[in-house]
Amino acid sequence: MQSYDLIIKNAQVVTSIETKYADIGIKDQKIIAIGNNLINSKETIDATGKYILPGGIDSHCHIEQKSASGLINSDTFESATKAAALGGNTSIIPFAAQYEGFTLTETLEDYHKLAKKGSIIDYAMHMIIAGPNNDLLNLELPEQIRLGHSSIKIFMTYDRLKIEDIDILNIFEKARDMEAFISVHAENHGMITWMVSKLLEKGYTHPKFHSVSHPVAGEVEAINRIIGISELMDQPVMIFHVSSEKGVEVIRNAQARGVKIFAETCVQYLTLTSDEMDKPGVEGGKWICSPPLRKTRDQNALWDAVKDNTLCLISSDHAPYSFDSNGKLFKGENPNFKEIPNGMPGLNWRLPILFDEIVNKRRKNLSINDFVRLTSTSPAKIYGLYPQKGDIEIGCDADLVIWDPEAITELSDDMVVDGSGYNPYSGRIIKGWPETVILRGYMIVFNNKVIADPGNGNFLPTKLSANVKPKGIIAHDLLKENNYGANLQS
Ligand code: URP
Ligand code: ZN
Ligand code: ZN
Repeated sequence: MQSYDLIIKNAQVVTSIETKYADIGIKDQKIIAIGNNLINSKETIDATGKYILPGGIDSHCHIEQKSASGLINSDTFESATKAAALGGNTSIIPFAAQYEGFTLTETLEDYHKLAKKGSIIDYAMHMIIAGPNNDLLNLELPEQIRLGHSSIKIFMTYDRLKIEDIDILNIFEKARDMEAFISVHAENHGMITWMVSKLLEKGYTHPKFHSVSHPVAGEVEAINRIIGISELMDQPVMIFHVSSEKGVEVIRNAQARGVKIFAETCVQYLTLTSDEMDKPGVEGGKWICSPPLRKTRDQNALWDAVKDNTLCLISSDHAPYSFDSNGKLFKGENPNFKEIPNGMPGLNWRLPILFDEIVNKRRKNLSINDFVRLTSTSPAKIYGLYPQKGDIEIGCDADLVIWDPEAITELSDDMVVDGSGYNPYSGRIIKGWPETVILRGYMIVFNNKVIADPGNGNFLPTKLSANVKPKGIIAHDLLKENNYGANLQS
């Protein structure tokens, strides 16, 4: 008779496509049976009245990362992944940020050391490339892609991170040749820099002017530009953290004419507005992130775009800074909006808030299966983690979260375990909570307590997913065999 390490009984098992009553049998870290009346296990959990969902995958989070402000995020892999696990995540994709003057190889080695030592959940790694020199592109990049880093992030803004169009083109060409995916922070740097100087010149220094200084037009322009480059090069991209109605429109139109682009938004753009920054003093700096929080109208448009799949996943863009002289206030107690580092914590809050919005409040008539798709299955399918992660099927890693759909929680600063020390959603009352979290068959959160040790997480090497491969139709002018259009006969 088949024996199991763990059986979870009597819950409703939820995937991105169905919800059904079943028992789940786990052995050697994998799901090996989904059926009724499973018996013969070392351990059994009775999950009557609960849902079992695949572990959340947060595919966009900045952890212990040197950021655009020059500061390191106020987190360690240990504190960030504790927060992630408490929030129902079993895998994350943070960043290794390569800056001008540093090799990609040493950068990745450094971040891997930190993640290996501290992470309590599994992790893949995006590579931020901010200094794309010849050695990096021709020697280091192929090797790092071979080692399982198939995802590159580029920035179109931030003084320390942005790269020029010519570099973007070079990276797109290499990514296409070597089978890597590209994600983009798309905002027009010139527009932001100009707006900031105009506002500061006139004395508009309060945190609320951060959103004014990042005009929607800048997001629209950069998204348009990156789509143009993507189309020219036949290299699919992920447009990160889309924040505006107009940004969505550009993406929707491009997708409708067949351009293979993907786009995400984040929980904060769906549930908060720029009003958060309009608080006395510098308090509003807690909500400064880029792109900035926008208006209710943008929020509605983002939900529509989630509904029609223009936006195919929802991440946290977790980028915490403590609200003190080591973080948000590192330039002094009364900084202007430009002196406040950009980013908000979200690893702990993304899933509970979205569960409340989608499953409890039925926003836009989205379902619990949509919730799983947007927060686990799609990130796994896009970033090359599927089918090991992101689903409940025989053969998948036993990454499972038992959700109590009835639990009522008031979010507060007291709950915070990440390095920010504050909860941007404090005071919000939500229904539904990820009460037990299981990673590869082992419980890592029980009764809202983390019971796993740092170093428990495994690196997840990725390969380019078939879902995000180039279409294979490249502009005639760009075919190398035609010498980029010079050979007009062919
Ligand atoms: O403000 C944000 N989002 N900070 C994190 C870095 C980035 O731009 O994604
Ligand atoms: Zn970004
Ligand atoms: Zn980010």
